[in-house]
Amino acid sequence: MAEYSTSPTGEKFPLPGLEEYLKEFERLEEVVSSERALGREIVLVMGLGFVGAVMAAVVADAKDKKGNPTKFVIGMQRPSTRSYWKIPLINRGISPVSSEDPEVPLMISRCVNDKKTLIATYTFDALKLVDVVIVDVQCDYVKESLGNVCDGRADMDALEESLEIIAQHISPQTLVLIETTVAPGTTEQVAYPIMKKSFRKRGIEKDPLLAHSFERVMPGRNYVSSIRDFWRVCSGVNEEASRRAVNFLNEVINTEKYPLTVLDRPIESETAKIVENSFRATLLAFMDEWSLFAERNGVDLTKVINAIRVRPTHSNIMFPGPGIGGYCLPKDGGLGLWAYRHIHGFEDDIFKITPLAININDTRSLHVAQLTRDALRNMGRPIASAEILLLGASYREDVGDTRYSGSELIVRRLTEMGAELRVHDPYVLHWWEFEKQDEYPGDSHSLKRFFRGQEKLKDLRVEQDLKNALDGTDAIILAVRHKHYLNLDPDEVVGNAGGPIAVIDCFGILDDEKIKRYFELGCEVKGLGRGHVRRIKDQVREKREQILIDISMKEEKRDLGLSSEDLELLSNGCKLRTED
Ligand SMILES: NC(=O)c1ccc[n+]([C@@H]2O[C@H](COP(=O)([O-])OP(=O)(O)OC[C@H]3O[C@@H](n4cnc5c(N)ncnc54)[C@H](O)[C@@H]3O)[C@@H](O)[C@H]2O)c1
Repeated sequence: MAEYSTSPTGEKFPLPGLEEYLKEFERLEEVVSSERALGREIVLVMGLGFVGAVMAAVVADAKDKKGNPTKFVIGMQRPSTRSYWKIPLINRGISPVSSEDPEVPLMISRCVNDKKTLIATYTFDALKLVDVVIVDVQCDYVKESLGNVCDGRADMDALEESLEIIAQHISPQTLVLIETTVAPGTTEQVAYPIMKKSFRKRGIEKDPLLAHSFERVMPGRNYVSSIRDFWRVCSGVNEEASRRAVNFLNEVINTEKYPLTVLDRPIESETAKIVENSFRATLLAFMDEWSLFAERNGVDLTKVINAIRVRPTHSNIMFPGPGIGGYCLPKDGGLGLWAYRHIHGFEDDIFKITPLAININDTRSLHVAQLTRDALRNMGRPIASAEILLLGASYREDVGDTRYSGSELIVRRLTEMGAELRVHDPYVLHWWEFEKQDEYPGDSHSLKRFFRGQEKLKDLRVEQDLKNALDGTDAIILAVRHKHYLNLDPDEVVGNAGGPIAVIDCFGILDDEKIKRYFELGCEVKGLGRGHVRRIKDQVREKREQILIDISMKEEKRDLGLSSEDLELLSNGCKLRTED
C-alpha cells in the first residue's frame, strides 16, 4: 500500500517508490551538469526544516558583483511520511515554513521559478554531485523529567546518521559545513571520526573537509535577514576546511556589513552558540522570581521592565512570558552539560546556573494554569469542565513554530485539571504536538508523558476564526503576543463570548485601560507579573459601589417626591463629595 506524506494544508503526496530514485538521480545529474557549465558552485542543504529551507534559498539567491547567480542549490530531505511533502512544495516554489517575513515565500518562489537556482530532492545520491554540503538536520536533547534538564541526554541519531550518509557519498573535495547546534566537541570528536572512518572504507586517504558555523536564525518578521544579514562565527577542523568555509560564507552571507568571526577550533564555534543561548535563557529565567514578587505585591512588572530598559546598560532586560519555548533555548544548555560529561569525560558538577535557568523556564507556564483556576474561582466557576480558549500556540509572536511553546504545557496542565481547551492561532494550522502526540516529537518524547488524562488532546484542532472560538468560553488566555491579539476590544471579546469571562494575560498584552474595561464588564483579570490588576479591580469596585449608592439615594429621593433637577444636583453633589 502506498504511503503518503500530508502537508499542513492537507495535500497528500505519495512517497517515492524504489523505481523513482534512479529517474530522480538522472534528472539531478542533468541539471547539475548544465549548472556547472554556467560556472555555478553546487551546494546541497541537508534537512529542510525551519533553518535549512530558508538557508537553501539564501544560498540560491546569492549573486556576484554583476548580479549573476553563483550557486545552484539542492535541498535534501528524508522522504519520511512526516516531512516528504516539503520536497514537492519547494519544487513548486512554495515555502514549507510559514512566517511573517514576506521575503521567505518571495525568495523561494524567485529562486525556484525565475532564477531556477533551487530544487529539492529526496535521494542521498545527490550528495555525489556537490561541492558543498550544509548540514541543517536537528540535534535534540531529550529530557526524562519535567523541570530537571540534568535528567536528560543528547539525541544525535539524525545528525550521526546524516554524517555517515554524507561521508559515504561525497567527493573528498566536498566541504561539509555543519550549521546544526551541537554539543560542544561534536564536530571534532563525533563527526570527524565518523567521516574519516567512512572515507577510509572507501579508500579515500584525504581527511574530510569539515567545519562548523552555527545559525542565529529567528523565524519571524526578519527571518531572511537573520540568516543573510547577520554576524556569523565559523571554524574548520583544519586550515583548508576553515579557508573553504570562510570563502563560502563570504559569498552567501552579507559579511561586508556583518563581519565573520573565525575561531581556532570548531569546539569554540559550538561553545559560542551554547553560551549565547544559555545567557539568554538565564536572563529570562532570572525574571521569573521577580514576576511572582510583582504578582504578590501589587507591582506591574511590565512597567518596571520599561523603566529599567531606558538604562543603556540594562536595555536587554526582558519580560519572560509563559515559558520560553522554541527549539533552541530549552535544549541548548542541556547539550553543553551533556557534552561536559559524555564527550569530554568529566565527572564533576560545574554547571549550576545554566540548568537552573532551563528548569525555571521549562515549568514557568504551569503557573498560568493556577492563575486561570483562581480567576475562575473568583467568578464562582470551577475549573473542571470550564471552557477555556488559549490564544496563541506558537512559542513567540508572529511565527507558526509550536516547538516547546509554553502554550503546550498550559493546555496539558489545564486538561489534567479537568478543563475543556480550545485554541486559536492565526499562524498554526495543525498543532502536531497534540494531533500526533503518540509519535511527535519522536517516539515517547511527547510532553504528554508528564501529565494525566491527555488522550483527548489528540482531537484538539486549531481554530482560525476568533469569533467562533470565543463563543461560549469561560476564560481566555492571552499566551502569545501575536499582532492579532494586541488590540482586541474588551467589549467585542465579552460580546462574542456571550458574557463575562476570566482573562489571563501572560505577556503584558493588556494596558490598564483594557484591564479596567474587562473589570467593568464583570470579568476577572489576572496576569503573569501583573500584580497591579488588583488595584484596578478595587478602583472599579469602588466606582461600582459608589454608583449603587447614587442609585439608591436617587430612588430614596424620588420616593420623597424630589424633582429630576433636584436628583441630578444631589447626585453630582455625591460625586463631588466622593471625588474630594
Ligand atoms: N529553528 C530555529 O529557530 C533555530 C535557530 C538557530 C539554530 N537552530 C538550529 O538549527 C538546527 C536545525 O533546526 P531546525 O529548526 O531547522 O530543525 P527542523 O527539525 O525544523 O529541521 C530538521 C530537518 O532535517 C531533516 N532531517 C533529519 N535527518 C535527515 C537526514 N538524514 N537527511 C535529510 N534530512 C534530514 C528533518 O526531516 C527536518 O526537516 C538545529 O540544530 C537547531 O538547534 C534552529
